[in-house]
Amino acid sequence: MHRRDFLASAALAASAGLARASHAQGYSDPPNRPSGTPRTVPASRLALLAAGVNLSHWLWLPKEQNADDRWKFIKREELDALRAAGLSHVRLPLDPASLWDREAKALRPGAWGEAQYAIDLCLAANLAVVLDIHPRGGQSKWIMPDDATGATQHLEALWTALAPRCTQWDAEKVFLEIMNEPHEIKEPGAWAIAQQRVASIIRDHCPNHTIIATGDEWGGVGGLKKLDPLDDGNVVYSFHFYEPMTFTHQGATWGWEGWKNLRNVPYPCTTQQAKDVAKTIDDEKGRKGLIGEHSDKEEAKQKFDGWNRDHIAARIDEAAAWSRHNARKGEALPLYCGEFGAIKEFAPQESRLAWLKDVAAVCREKKIGWAMWDYCGGFAMSEEKDGKKALDAQVLRAALKR
Ligand code: BGC
Repeated sequence: MHRRDFLASAALAASAGLARASHAQGYSDPPNRPSGTPRTVPASRLALLAAGVNLSHWLWLPKEQNADDRWKFIKREELDALRAAGLSHVRLPLDPASLWDREAKALRPGAWGEAQYAIDLCLAANLAVVLDIHPRGGQSKWIMPDDATGATQHLEALWTALAPRCTQWDAEKVFLEIMNEPHEIKEPGAWAIAQQRVASIIRDHCPNHTIIATGDEWGGVGGLKKLDPLDDGNVVYSFHFYEPMTFTHQGATWGWEGWKNLRNVPYPCTTQQAKDVAKTIDDEKGRKGLIGEHSDKEEAKQKFDGWNRDHIAARIDEAAAWSRHNARKGEALPLYCGEFGAIKEFAPQESRLAWLKDVAAVCREKKIGWAMWDYCGGFAMSEEKDGKKALDAQVLRAALKR
Protein backbone atom coordinates (compact mmCIF):
# COMPACT_ATOMS: atom_id res chain seq x y z
CA MET A 1 0.00 0.00 0.00
CA HIS A 2 1.32 3.39 -0.86
CA ARG A 3 0.04 6.87 -0.39
CA ARG A 4 -3.68 6.49 -0.95
CA ASP A 5 -5.56 9.71 -0.39
CA PHE A 6 -2.67 11.00 1.62
CA LEU A 7 -0.84 12.12 -1.47
CA ALA A 8 -3.88 12.05 -3.71
CA SER A 9 -3.21 13.03 -7.26
CA ALA A 10 -4.82 16.04 -8.85
CA ALA A 11 -8.55 15.82 -9.31
CA LEU A 12 -9.57 13.34 -11.96
CA ALA A 13 -11.37 15.01 -14.77
CA ALA A 14 -14.51 13.48 -16.15
CA SER A 15 -13.58 10.76 -18.55
CA ALA A 16 -13.98 11.04 -22.26
CA GLY A 17 -15.95 8.14 -23.57
CA LEU A 18 -17.44 7.06 -20.25
CA ALA A 19 -21.17 6.68 -20.58
CA ARG A 20 -21.91 8.51 -17.40
CA ALA A 21 -24.77 7.09 -15.41
CA SER A 22 -27.31 9.85 -15.43
CA HIS A 23 -27.78 9.50 -11.71
CA ALA A 24 -29.12 12.97 -11.26
CA GLN A 25 -32.09 12.09 -13.49
CA GLY A 26 -32.56 8.48 -12.40
CA TYR A 27 -31.17 5.43 -14.16
CA SER A 28 -31.96 2.75 -16.64
CA ASP A 29 -31.34 -0.95 -16.27
CA PRO A 30 -28.96 -2.45 -18.84
CA PRO A 31 -31.12 -3.81 -21.67
CA ASN A 32 -29.62 -7.30 -21.41
CA ARG A 33 -30.04 -7.64 -17.67
CA PRO A 34 -30.72 -11.34 -17.10
CA SER A 35 -34.07 -12.01 -15.55
CA GLY A 36 -33.86 -12.76 -11.86
CA THR A 37 -31.06 -10.25 -11.29
CA PRO A 38 -31.86 -8.35 -8.11
CA ARG A 39 -32.39 -4.68 -8.89
CA THR A 40 -30.87 -3.71 -5.58
CA VAL A 41 -28.68 -5.42 -3.02
CA PRO A 42 -30.95 -7.60 -0.87
CA ALA A 43 -31.07 -6.46 2.76
CA SER A 44 -30.09 -9.98 3.89
CA ARG A 45 -26.76 -9.59 2.09
CA LEU A 46 -26.06 -6.15 3.52
CA ALA A 47 -26.65 -7.64 6.97
CA LEU A 48 -23.91 -10.19 6.26
CA LEU A 49 -21.45 -7.41 5.49
CA ALA A 50 -22.07 -5.83 8.91
CA ALA A 51 -18.83 -6.92 10.59
CA GLY A 52 -15.84 -8.81 9.22
CA VAL A 53 -12.12 -9.18 8.99
CA ASN A 54 -9.61 -9.45 6.15
CA LEU A 55 -7.99 -12.88 6.00
CA SER A 56 -4.76 -11.56 4.53
CA HIS A 57 -1.52 -13.56 4.70
CA TRP A 58 -3.33 -16.81 3.94
CA LEU A 59 -3.44 -16.73 0.15
CA TRP A 60 -2.35 -13.10 -0.28
CA LEU A 61 1.21 -12.32 0.92
CA PRO A 62 1.08 -15.79 2.44
CA LYS A 63 2.98 -16.41 5.64
CA GLU A 64 3.37 -20.02 4.50
CA GLN A 65 5.41 -20.45 1.38
CA ASN A 66 4.51 -24.01 0.64
CA ALA A 67 1.07 -25.19 -0.34
CA ASP A 68 0.83 -28.01 2.21
CA ASP A 69 1.32 -25.56 5.03
CA ARG A 70 -1.09 -23.04 3.52
CA TRP A 71 -3.96 -25.54 3.58
CA LYS A 72 -3.51 -25.70 7.33
CA PHE A 73 -2.72 -22.04 7.95
CA ILE A 74 -6.22 -21.00 8.98
CA LYS A 75 -8.18 -23.71 10.67
CA ARG A 76 -11.90 -24.29 10.89
CA GLU A 77 -11.81 -23.69 14.64
CA GLU A 78 -10.34 -20.21 14.06
CA LEU A 79 -13.16 -19.38 11.68
CA ASP A 80 -15.69 -20.74 14.16
CA ALA A 81 -14.14 -18.44 16.76
CA LEU A 82 -14.54 -15.42 14.46
CA ARG A 83 -18.17 -16.31 13.92
CA ALA A 84 -18.75 -16.87 17.64
CA ALA A 85 -17.14 -13.50 18.38
CA GLY A 86 -19.85 -11.81 16.32
CA LEU A 87 -18.37 -11.47 12.85
CA SER A 88 -20.67 -12.16 9.94
CA HIS A 89 -18.20 -12.30 7.07
CA VAL A 90 -14.57 -12.42 6.02
CA ARG A 91 -12.87 -10.64 3.15
CA LEU A 92 -10.50 -13.00 1.40
CA PRO A 93 -7.72 -11.26 -0.55
CA LEU A 94 -6.46 -13.34 -3.48
CA ASP A 95 -3.27 -12.36 -5.25
CA PRO A 96 -4.00 -12.24 -9.01
CA ALA A 97 -0.31 -12.84 -9.74
CA SER A 98 -0.59 -16.24 -8.02
CA LEU A 99 -4.02 -17.04 -9.36
CA TRP A 100 -3.58 -16.02 -12.97
CA ASP A 101 -1.01 -17.40 -15.41
CA ARG A 102 -0.54 -14.53 -17.85
CA GLU A 103 1.36 -16.59 -20.38
CA ALA A 104 -1.13 -19.44 -20.48
CA LYS A 105 -4.08 -17.06 -19.96
CA ALA A 106 -5.48 -19.50 -17.45
CA LEU A 107 -6.13 -19.89 -13.75
CA ARG A 108 -3.38 -21.81 -12.01
CA PRO A 109 -5.14 -24.94 -10.78
CA GLY A 110 -3.14 -25.08 -7.54
CA ALA A 111 -3.86 -21.50 -6.49
CA TRP A 112 -7.49 -21.76 -7.57
CA GLY A 113 -7.85 -25.01 -5.64
CA GLU A 114 -6.57 -23.27 -2.53
CA ALA A 115 -8.95 -20.36 -3.06
CA GLN A 116 -11.94 -22.68 -3.43
CA TYR A 117 -10.94 -24.61 -0.35
CA ALA A 118 -10.57 -21.39 1.67
CA ILE A 119 -13.94 -20.04 0.54
CA ASP A 120 -15.69 -23.33 1.31
CA LEU A 121 -14.08 -23.50 4.74
CA CYS A 122 -15.29 -20.00 5.61
CA LEU A 123 -18.79 -20.76 4.34
CA ALA A 124 -18.85 -23.96 6.36
CA ALA A 125 -18.10 -21.84 9.44
CA ASN A 126 -21.18 -19.78 8.55
CA LEU A 127 -19.20 -16.74 7.49
CA ALA A 128 -20.10 -14.95 4.26
CA VAL A 129 -17.11 -14.30 1.99
CA VAL A 130 -15.93 -11.35 -0.04
CA LEU A 131 -13.74 -12.78 -2.81
CA ASP A 132 -11.30 -9.92 -3.30
CA ILE A 133 -8.86 -9.70 -6.21
CA HIS A 134 -5.99 -8.01 -4.42
CA PRO A 135 -2.85 -7.16 -6.40
CA ARG A 136 0.31 -6.66 -4.38
CA GLY A 137 1.07 -2.97 -3.87
CA GLY A 138 4.06 -1.94 -5.94
CA GLN A 139 3.66 -4.93 -8.29
CA SER A 140 0.30 -4.18 -9.71
CA LYS A 141 0.83 -2.04 -12.80
CA TRP A 142 0.21 -5.02 -15.09
CA ILE A 143 -3.40 -5.32 -14.00
CA MET A 144 -4.40 -1.64 -14.05
CA PRO A 145 -6.06 -0.03 -17.08
CA ASP A 146 -3.48 1.85 -19.08
CA ASP A 147 -5.45 4.02 -21.48
CA ALA A 148 -8.68 5.97 -21.62
CA THR A 149 -10.67 2.98 -22.92
CA GLY A 150 -10.30 1.40 -19.50
CA ALA A 151 -9.20 -1.86 -21.10
CA THR A 152 -7.34 -3.96 -18.61
CA GLN A 153 -6.43 -7.07 -20.49
CA HIS A 154 -5.37 -9.22 -17.59
CA LEU A 155 -8.09 -8.25 -15.12
CA GLU A 156 -10.75 -8.87 -17.78
CA ALA A 157 -9.24 -12.20 -18.76
CA LEU A 158 -8.97 -13.23 -15.12
CA TRP A 159 -12.62 -12.42 -14.42
CA THR A 160 -13.68 -14.10 -17.67
CA ALA A 161 -12.20 -17.30 -16.27
CA LEU A 162 -13.29 -16.67 -12.69
CA ALA A 163 -16.92 -15.58 -13.08
CA PRO A 164 -18.30 -18.88 -14.49
CA ARG A 165 -16.60 -20.70 -11.64
CA CYS A 166 -18.14 -18.42 -9.01
CA THR A 167 -21.61 -19.75 -9.79
CA GLN A 168 -20.71 -22.70 -7.54
CA TRP A 169 -21.31 -20.43 -4.55
CA ASP A 170 -24.57 -19.13 -3.17
CA ALA A 171 -25.12 -15.54 -4.26
CA GLU A 172 -26.55 -14.83 -0.82
CA LYS A 173 -23.20 -15.56 0.80
CA VAL A 174 -20.38 -14.84 -1.62
CA PHE A 175 -19.62 -11.32 -2.82
CA LEU A 176 -17.38 -10.59 -5.78
CA GLU A 177 -14.97 -7.68 -5.38
CA ILE A 178 -13.57 -6.62 -8.74
CA MET A 179 -10.20 -5.33 -7.52
CA ASN A 180 -8.61 -3.93 -4.38
CA GLU A 181 -7.36 -0.34 -4.32
CA PRO A 182 -6.88 0.71 -7.95
CA HIS A 183 -4.12 3.30 -8.11
CA GLU A 184 -1.60 5.16 -10.22
CA ILE A 185 -3.88 5.09 -13.24
CA LYS A 186 -2.78 7.89 -15.53
CA GLU A 187 -5.96 8.36 -17.54
CA PRO A 188 -8.64 10.18 -15.58
CA GLY A 189 -11.81 8.11 -15.39
CA ALA A 190 -10.18 4.98 -16.84
CA TRP A 191 -10.84 3.01 -13.68
CA ALA A 192 -14.60 3.67 -13.77
CA ILE A 193 -14.71 2.40 -17.35
CA ALA A 194 -12.53 -0.61 -16.53
CA GLN A 195 -14.72 -1.47 -13.58
CA GLN A 196 -17.89 -1.31 -15.68
CA ARG A 197 -16.29 -3.58 -18.29
CA VAL A 198 -15.36 -6.17 -15.69
CA ALA A 199 -18.78 -5.91 -14.01
CA SER A 200 -20.42 -6.74 -17.35
CA ILE A 201 -18.18 -9.80 -17.68
CA ILE A 202 -19.20 -10.92 -14.19
CA ARG A 203 -22.89 -10.31 -14.94
CA ASP A 204 -22.75 -12.53 -18.02
CA HIS A 205 -22.14 -15.48 -15.71
CA CYS A 206 -23.30 -14.40 -12.28
CA PRO A 207 -26.62 -12.60 -12.66
CA ASN A 208 -27.37 -12.76 -8.94
CA HIS A 209 -24.11 -12.24 -7.13
CA THR A 210 -23.52 -8.90 -5.47
CA ILE A 211 -20.52 -7.11 -6.91
CA ILE A 212 -18.27 -4.94 -4.75
CA ALA A 213 -16.93 -1.92 -6.60
CA THR A 214 -14.55 0.81 -5.54
CA GLY A 215 -13.06 4.13 -6.55
CA ASP A 216 -9.60 4.92 -7.84
CA GLU A 217 -6.82 6.44 -5.66
CA TRP A 218 -6.26 3.41 -3.42
CA GLY A 219 -9.94 2.87 -2.82
CA GLY A 220 -10.23 5.72 -0.31
CA VAL A 221 -13.11 8.13 0.29
CA GLY A 222 -11.50 10.62 -2.12
CA GLY A 223 -11.52 8.13 -5.00
CA LEU A 224 -15.08 7.01 -4.27
CA LYS A 225 -16.31 10.60 -4.45
CA LYS A 226 -15.03 10.84 -8.01
CA LEU A 227 -16.55 7.55 -9.14
CA ASP A 228 -19.52 7.23 -11.46
CA PRO A 229 -21.61 4.35 -10.12
CA LEU A 230 -21.99 1.23 -12.21
CA ASP A 231 -25.00 0.69 -14.37
CA ASP A 232 -26.15 -2.11 -12.09
CA GLY A 233 -28.19 -2.00 -8.90
CA ASN A 234 -26.78 -5.12 -7.27
CA VAL A 235 -23.51 -3.46 -6.28
CA VAL A 236 -22.04 -2.43 -2.94
CA TYR A 237 -19.51 0.42 -3.03
CA SER A 238 -16.41 0.01 -0.97
CA PHE A 239 -14.04 2.53 0.56
CA HIS A 240 -11.02 1.94 2.78
CA PHE A 241 -10.47 4.04 5.84
CA TYR A 242 -7.03 4.64 7.35
CA GLU A 243 -7.29 8.33 8.18
CA PRO A 244 -5.25 9.96 9.48
CA MET A 245 -2.52 7.83 7.95
CA THR A 246 0.07 9.52 10.15
CA PHE A 247 -1.70 7.73 13.01
CA THR A 248 -2.72 4.38 11.43
CA HIS A 249 0.49 3.95 9.44
CA GLN A 250 2.98 5.28 11.98
CA GLY A 251 6.06 3.09 11.70
CA ALA A 252 5.07 1.64 8.28
CA THR A 253 8.07 0.57 6.28
CA TRP A 254 6.14 0.71 3.01
CA GLY A 255 4.39 3.56 1.22
CA TRP A 256 5.23 7.16 2.05
CA GLU A 257 8.70 7.57 3.61
CA GLY A 258 7.42 10.00 6.26
CA TRP A 259 5.50 7.23 8.07
CA LYS A 260 8.42 5.07 9.02
CA ASN A 261 9.87 7.42 11.61
CA LEU A 262 6.60 8.36 13.25
CA ARG A 263 6.08 7.12 16.81
CA ASN A 264 3.75 7.87 19.73
CA VAL A 265 1.15 9.58 17.58
CA PRO A 266 -2.02 9.50 19.69
CA TYR A 267 -5.71 9.35 18.83
CA PRO A 268 -7.74 11.42 19.46
CA CYS A 269 -5.16 14.08 18.78
CA THR A 270 -5.42 17.84 19.25
CA THR A 271 -3.36 20.30 17.24
CA GLN A 272 -1.21 20.97 20.29
CA GLN A 273 -0.61 17.25 20.92
CA ALA A 274 0.43 16.77 17.31
CA LYS A 275 2.85 19.68 17.59
CA ASP A 276 4.32 18.26 20.78
CA VAL A 277 4.82 14.81 19.26
CA ALA A 278 6.27 16.41 16.12
CA LYS A 279 9.06 17.94 18.26
CA THR A 280 10.19 14.43 19.15
CA ILE A 281 10.32 13.20 15.54
CA ASP A 282 13.76 13.22 14.07
CA ASP A 283 12.67 13.34 10.46
CA GLU A 284 11.42 16.37 8.61
CA LYS A 285 8.96 14.61 6.34
CA GLY A 286 7.27 12.74 9.14
CA ARG A 287 7.25 15.81 11.37
CA LYS A 288 5.63 18.05 8.78
CA GLY A 289 3.23 15.35 7.66
CA LEU A 290 2.05 14.93 11.22
CA ILE A 291 1.01 18.56 11.60
CA GLY A 292 -0.43 18.80 8.12
CA GLU A 293 2.36 20.86 6.63
CA HIS A 294 4.01 18.45 4.30
CA SER A 295 4.24 19.99 0.87
CA ASP A 296 2.97 16.83 -0.86
CA LYS A 297 0.01 16.50 1.38
CA GLU A 298 -3.32 17.47 -0.10
CA GLU A 299 -4.84 18.54 3.18
CA ALA A 300 -1.80 20.69 3.93
CA LYS A 301 -3.63 23.51 2.28
CA GLN A 302 -6.30 23.24 4.87
CA LYS A 303 -5.75 24.08 8.46
CA PHE A 304 -4.81 21.03 10.50
CA ASP A 305 -6.96 20.84 13.60
CA GLY A 306 -6.34 17.41 15.00
CA TRP A 307 -8.33 14.20 14.83
CA ASN A 308 -11.24 12.83 16.76
CA ARG A 309 -14.51 11.01 16.25
CA ASP A 310 -16.19 14.07 14.72
CA HIS A 311 -13.48 14.27 12.05
CA ILE A 312 -13.93 10.58 11.27
CA ALA A 313 -17.70 10.96 11.11
CA ALA A 314 -17.40 13.99 8.83
CA ARG A 315 -15.06 12.18 6.46
CA ILE A 316 -17.18 9.03 6.30
CA ASP A 317 -20.16 11.27 5.77
CA GLU A 318 -18.55 12.39 2.52
CA ALA A 319 -18.88 8.81 1.31
CA ALA A 320 -22.46 8.70 2.59
CA ALA A 321 -23.24 11.98 0.79
CA TRP A 322 -21.90 10.45 -2.45
CA SER A 323 -24.11 7.42 -1.96
CA ARG A 324 -27.16 9.64 -1.40
CA HIS A 325 -26.35 11.83 -4.36
CA ASN A 326 -26.20 8.74 -6.58
CA ALA A 327 -29.35 7.17 -5.15
CA ARG A 328 -31.23 4.67 -7.33
CA LYS A 329 -34.98 4.78 -7.09
CA GLY A 330 -34.68 6.99 -4.04
CA GLU A 331 -32.36 4.54 -2.21
CA ALA A 332 -28.83 5.62 -1.30
CA LEU A 333 -26.22 3.26 -2.76
CA PRO A 334 -25.00 0.69 -0.23
CA LEU A 335 -21.52 1.32 1.18
CA TYR A 336 -18.93 -1.00 2.71
CA CYS A 337 -15.73 -0.10 4.53
CA GLY A 338 -13.66 -3.03 3.27
CA GLU A 339 -10.52 -2.14 5.23
CA PHE A 340 -9.67 -0.12 8.32
CA GLY A 341 -6.98 -0.64 10.91
CA ALA A 342 -3.87 0.73 12.61
CA ILE A 343 -0.44 -0.88 12.93
CA LYS A 344 -0.34 -2.82 16.17
CA GLU A 345 3.37 -2.50 16.83
CA PHE A 346 3.54 1.29 16.71
CA ALA A 347 0.15 2.87 17.34
CA PRO A 348 -0.18 3.38 21.12
CA GLN A 349 -2.55 0.64 22.30
CA GLU A 350 -5.19 2.85 23.96
CA SER A 351 -5.24 5.10 20.93
CA ARG A 352 -5.51 2.19 18.55
CA LEU A 353 -8.48 0.80 20.44
CA ALA A 354 -10.14 4.21 20.54
CA TRP A 355 -9.66 4.69 16.80
CA LEU A 356 -10.97 1.20 15.93
CA LYS A 357 -13.96 1.81 18.16
CA ASP A 358 -14.76 5.17 16.60
CA VAL A 359 -14.45 4.03 12.98
CA ALA A 360 -16.55 0.91 13.58
CA ALA A 361 -19.16 2.87 15.55
CA VAL A 362 -19.44 5.62 12.92
CA CYS A 363 -19.87 2.97 10.22
CA ARG A 364 -22.51 1.20 12.28
CA GLU A 365 -24.36 4.45 12.85
CA LYS A 366 -24.41 5.08 9.11
CA LYS A 367 -25.39 1.48 8.33
CA ILE A 368 -22.08 0.79 6.62
CA GLY A 369 -20.68 -2.73 6.98
CA TRP A 370 -16.97 -3.09 7.67
CA ALA A 371 -14.04 -5.49 7.58
CA MET A 372 -11.04 -4.78 9.76
CA TRP A 373 -7.56 -5.06 8.25
CA ASP A 374 -6.34 -7.60 9.24
CA TYR A 375 -6.63 -10.98 10.96
CA CYS A 376 -3.03 -11.93 11.63
CA GLY A 377 -0.71 -9.41 9.95
CA GLY A 378 0.67 -6.10 11.21
CA PHE A 379 -2.78 -4.67 11.99
CA ALA A 380 -3.91 -7.83 13.74
CA MET A 381 -7.21 -8.76 15.26
CA SER A 382 -5.47 -11.82 16.71
CA GLU A 383 -2.33 -12.49 18.70
CA GLU A 384 0.04 -15.42 18.73
CA LYS A 385 -0.35 -17.52 21.92
CA ASP A 386 1.38 -20.87 22.40
CA GLY A 387 1.95 -21.17 18.68
CA LYS A 388 -1.72 -20.52 17.90
CA LYS A 389 -3.67 -17.48 16.78
CA ALA A 390 -5.98 -16.25 19.53
CA LEU A 391 -8.50 -13.46 19.02
CA ASP A 392 -7.57 -10.19 20.70
CA ALA A 393 -10.51 -9.60 23.04
CA GLN A 394 -9.76 -5.89 23.43
CA VAL A 395 -9.77 -5.29 19.71
CA LEU A 396 -13.00 -7.20 19.26
CA ARG A 397 -14.64 -5.36 22.11
CA ALA A 398 -13.61 -2.03 20.64
CA ALA A 399 -14.82 -2.83 17.14
CA LEU A 400 -18.00 -4.68 18.02
CA LYS A 401 -19.24 -2.60 20.93
CA ARG A 402 -22.85 -1.89 20.23
C1 BGC B 1 -2.71 -3.42 1.27
C2 BGC B 1 -1.69 -3.91 2.25
C3 BGC B 1 -1.55 -2.94 3.42
C4 BGC B 1 -2.90 -2.56 3.96
C5 BGC B 1 -2.74 -1.47 4.97
C6 BGC B 1 -3.98 -3.20 1.98
O1 BGC B 1 -4.97 -2.91 1.06
O2 BGC B 1 -2.88 -4.31 0.21
O3 BGC B 1 -0.46 -4.03 1.61
O4 BGC B 1 -0.80 -3.51 4.45
O5 BGC B 1 -3.78 -2.17 2.93
O6 BGC B 1 -1.95 -0.45 4.48
